[in-house]
Amino acid sequence: MANVTFSSPRMKKDVTVYAVAGDTKTLLAVAKANSVPLESECENGECGSCQVQVSVLSGNTPIGVALTEKEKLVLKLAGKITAQQIEDAETKDLPPPWRLACQMVVRDEDILVKF
Ligand code: FES
Repeated sequence: MANVTFSSPRMKKDVTVYAVAGDTKTLLAVAKANSVPLESECENGECGSCQVQVSVLSGNTPIGVALTEKEKLVLKLAGKITAQQIEDAETKDLPPPWRLACQMVVRDEDILVKF
């Protein structure tokens, strides 16, 4: 079970929802299921409209991630990820601060999502 807290100027207040770990829902799916007004267009990692800033709240070491090629490309073109951050994600399991909500699978860790 993970707490996912969404924070945005578009919402009156932060919203924290519980996501069941292991059901492989994307962050965008969790947002939609909870009526969080996160933008999305393609839902396929191509448009970049669902860019979010993610930080781990638990104080634990963040769980490593596998970025899709689409996500790397879109975030790079948007200037939200550096070549070093991509390398760190791939070799050191360090997740980058910006993600695409439609490509990010919610894991068993408490996160803050800003958009
Ligand atoms: Fe288009 Fe996520 S909705 S990249």
